[in-house]
Amino acid sequence: MSDPSFSEVEACVFDAYGTLFDVHSAATRVKDDLGEKADALSDMWRFKQLQYTWLRSLMGRHEDFWQVTGYALDYSMRALDMENDSLRAKLMEHYLQLDAYPEVIDVLTRLKDAGKKTAILSNGEPSMLIAAAKSANIYSLLDGVFSIEKVGIFKPHPSTYQIAVDELKIAADNISFQSSNGWDAHGAAAFGFVVVWVNRFDQPQENLPAAPHAEIKTLSDLPRLLSL
Ligand code: LAC
Repeated sequence: MSDPSFSEVEACVFDAYGTLFDVHSAATRVKDDLGEKADALSDMWRFKQLQYTWLRSLMGRHEDFWQVTGYALDYSMRALDMENDSLRAKLMEHYLQLDAYPEVIDVLTRLKDAGKKTAILSNGEPSMLIAAAKSANIYSLLDGVFSIEKVGIFKPHPSTYQIAVDELKIAADNISFQSSNGWDAHGAAAFGFVVVWVNRFDQPQENLPAAPHAEIKTLSDLPRLLSL
């Protein structure tokens, strides 16, 4: 990993799903209804959701992340022989109120206290991001909630990362970007951000262009990286 300039970071921009919000908390809340396939459904739902974003971007057939999340859930319920309209509705509803990871409020507060700007940059459709941020009590700790809907293509297209530069009016190399998604971390590093891979799930390193500049286990390690 190359030597990053964490000392010059003015803004910390976060991926949303998987990084700030626990995407599996939706299925956990209806675990009893889902039964023994709960974990398999949650894993497939997330995997298909991401796959559909990449495929739609390649096909030039954008639909917003709320629609894509629903299509991925429908596929997964069908694949696992679990189709159920009421459970589908409950899971989608829970997606608007996902749990934030336990350290998130404390870390955002510390960053704000230290004078850093904070923002989300996500594939999420704006109203779903705002709903999740409010529900997790982090909305007031953010200077911006930026959605790729502004450019109509999903991450890791370079134009998505440019949104944060334009909105914050801060150069890419003065922005640290945090993501638990390895592919997103590589995309952001290729774009020019100072990138922190939050490797929550002990994933092996990706073989993709451009490497993240640091790897941490949870966001609790971010203030130390920024010498706070
Ligand atoms: C996001 C997806 C990648 O929040 O999790 O953009």
